[in-house]
Amino acid sequence: MGSMPFPIHRPRRLRSSESMRRLVRETALAPDDFILPLFVVEGEGVNNPISSMPGNSQMSIDGILEKCAECHSLGVGGVILFGIPDHKDEEATEGRAADGIVPRAVRAIKAELPALTVVTDVCNCEYTSHGHCGKIVNGDVDNDTTLNWLAEAAVAHARAGADIVAPSDMMDGRVAAIRAALDASGFPNLPILSYAAKYASSFYGPFREAAESTPQFGDRRSYQMDPANAREALREIALDIEEGADMIMVKPAGPYLDIVRMARDRWDLPLAAYQVSGEFSMIKAAAQNGWIDEHRAMLESLTAIRRAGADMILTYYACDAARALAG
Ligand code: PBG
Repeated sequence: MGSMPFPIHRPRRLRSSESMRRLVRETALAPDDFILPLFVVEGEGVNNPISSMPGNSQMSIDGILEKCAECHSLGVGGVILFGIPDHKDEEATEGRAADGIVPRAVRAIKAELPALTVVTDVCNCEYTSHGHCGKIVNGDVDNDTTLNWLAEAAVAHARAGADIVAPSDMMDGRVAAIRAALDASGFPNLPILSYAAKYASSFYGPFREAAESTPQFGDRRSYQMDPANAREALREIALDIEEGADMIMVKPAGPYLDIVRMARDRWDLPLAAYQVSGEFSMIKAAAQNGWIDEHRAMLESLTAIRRAGADMILTYYACDAARALAG
């Protein structure tokens, strides 16, 4: 710009019509970039609406299959499965079982929709009676024992046919442990999407209702990250990449767009961001009160996450946004 920018420069020229705006638009959304989180429960014909996440339900495998078919026909990039077992215990036994709820759901989906990408969340908190993400020793989660549980869970998911495993527990060394276990079990080509920078966030509140995974004592701050820290996120991501992560994730997304941008600028691996339950439910609640236009807020929030540098977005809006993009 020269010393007299106006009236030479008038940025409004390029906003004069929708066709002009489309031409210069920098960020595009596409259904392929969305991953829909799903909550799978035991039983047949079960559909338990999650009150804090309108439009989302816990579903038994039959319902999950219907939802997956909808995702597939809308061109949604994939689904990520969270299992809610009938029986929880101190050792997260169900989470590691070869015939656990997630492996059975994966088998069913891959049999019916082989082309739909199925990601599995690898964590223990949905399977432990205490709701923490691993083995409790002296009132805290014991890192190294938990690694074995995670590795077993990942192998169970791999044997069932998962396309990607995504550890969300925030134990140190979990990517290396899972990579070693997968390789030793004959899955050297199965990618790991690591929840590399996952914060101890209040925005997970609705999810914990959905996954029945609220910690029964304490909180997750001894393993998930302090929301105040950005450099630490870069260190967490770097460690996961060194340990063999194929893709990295920042979570939550909206309140942490600075971290998404820093990760994008620093690394070339595919980058995911998770628009978590609280981000979704805030838009829903405001829309239900007539305070916000849901359609526009949905697309704006997703566009902002892409603009910050995320390649993929895990979002409860995956199907709605895909429908919106289809016109
Ligand atoms: C499990 C896990 C959580 C979420 C994804 N995986 C909850 C937590 O860490 O407490 C949150 C997702 C959401 O809020 O949508 N460790």
